[in-house]
Amino acid sequence: MDFAMRPAVEADLHEIYAIERASFGSTAWPQQMMQTELSPNPNRNYFVALEGDRIVGYAGIGVVDGNHADVMTIAVTAEQRGKGLGRALMNRLISVAAKRGAREMFLEVRADNPVAQGLYESLGFTQIDLRRAYYQPEGIDAVIMRADLSAKVLERAQQAIREPLVLGIESSCDETGVGIVRGNTLLANVIASSMDAHARFGGVVPEIAARAHLESLQPTLRQALRTAGVSLSEIDAIAVTNGPGLAGALMVGVGAAKALAVATGKPIYAVNHLVGHVGVDVLERGEVVTPTIALLVSGGHTSLLLVRDLVSDVELLGETIDDAAGEAFDKVARLLGLGYPGGPVIDQAAATGNPKAVRFPRGLTLPKDMEKHRYDFSFSGLKTAVARWVEVAEAKGEDFSVADVAASFREAVVDVLVTKAVAACLDNNVPRLLLGGGVVANRRLRELAAERCEAAGIELRIPALSLCTDNGAMIAALGAQLIMAGHEPSTLDFAADSTLSVTSIQTS
Ligand code: KG4
Ligand code: ZN
Repeated sequence: MDFAMRPAVEADLHEIYAIERASFGSTAWPQQMMQTELSPNPNRNYFVALEGDRIVGYAGIGVVDGNHADVMTIAVTAEQRGKGLGRALMNRLISVAAKRGAREMFLEVRADNPVAQGLYESLGFTQIDLRRAYYQPEGIDAVIMRADLSAKVLERAQQAIREPLVLGIESSCDETGVGIVRGNTLLANVIASSMDAHARFGGVVPEIAARAHLESLQPTLRQALRTAGVSLSEIDAIAVTNGPGLAGALMVGVGAAKALAVATGKPIYAVNHLVGHVGVDVLERGEVVTPTIALLVSGGHTSLLLVRDLVSDVELLGETIDDAAGEAFDKVARLLGLGYPGGPVIDQAAATGNPKAVRFPRGLTLPKDMEKHRYDFSFSGLKTAVARWVEVAEAKGEDFSVADVAASFREAVVDVLVTKAVAACLDNNVPRLLLGGGVVANRRLRELAAERCEAAGIELRIPALSLCTDNGAMIAALGAQLIMAGHEPSTLDFAADSTLSVTSIQTS
């Protein structure tokens, strides 16, 4: 039997409590206690099992000292007994307990419930104690059971878990993205871009982007559900980018996601856009292999990350101190009269140019910079250097080659990006580099990264371009990873945060 399962939220209290009372009668918890258990608490993980929209079972663990987990409660409705739902809930608890670092798990069960004891035994639990007259007022004994969360027990539990169906919403810049994943599997990735509306300004205009999101969100959402072949009620959780990005643009996505969560009663996960760029790799590789260095390069960001664990440990090694890499392409394309967005047109113009024609400066790569700004980037000096070079050439009335300038500029940007990314891998002893962001479309960047990574023994990962540019699937994928790792949903109190730090993977 295949049941949907998702983390429990406080709004589930009444349905859960009805099952608790029906199942345990006089030994049921007081409702107040159940409410406390369901309120956000880092030491608790509760899940509900669903049949359609209806909650038909729930279970929770407490992980207090990190080493062991206690099953707090588990119950299913009378009609659903004997269909494997208790087992599914237990598998979820085992998996979460192990992922949270617990090495053993304890539970207590009524001595007069041999069916439950049999189930727990089949999952790896054995009796370690008997507490006389533990369940009052009836005076029933409690059988105390313990399981070693060995690799074998964990693997069995994980195989049995149905992966969560997550809808992701992205609106941090000029792409309205809605993606749907089931666990590590991509089901839909629909994007509406307002790029054309920004073209005549030579860069993204925040106000125009925010308005465009408002118009595009509904149709993009509907298209994503259609593509995935699922209905909104089937979704287990909603994930949304809450930063970093353009404040007004982020607010549209955050507002929409919260409204959806309230209207449908689904849990919501507020996630970090940059970490989403890294998490997207699971959709192609099936897992996130860490540690990895990630180089994220787009119109809005240029960041170098050390990802030790996707859902719990991301460190910002460095970032641009002025323009983003994509922004540099856009600005230089503009001054060369090539159009917008700059990346593709410069790539095209550079194809026939000589990258060694002009030696443009490599920002923050001098020995003194490599001490203080080892992993930081600066592209505004480069942009100015190109502008000056063109000015001088024009003043002299020289007939210079745009192809040579484009190729030389591109070489300067790409050289710095790859040099610093490879240094980050070598310095940190991490033999893996993942690229993300729209600039990854750049042909020379791909070529040089492949060359230098191979020479240094670094495994290079470049996701498909549709997953590199801003999209909702990466947000859904990160949300699914958080859920599968047992993270609690966010509350509805989170805000859009344009300068959200990359260390904040999920905003609670
Ligand atoms: O990730 P993305 O789609 O989102 C935003 O930052 O909005 O990245 C867009 C950026 C633009 O700045 C664009 O010029 C740049 O990526 N880009 C490129 C190339 N294609 C797009 N930069 C260099 N070479 C390219 N082929
Ligand atoms: Zn991005």
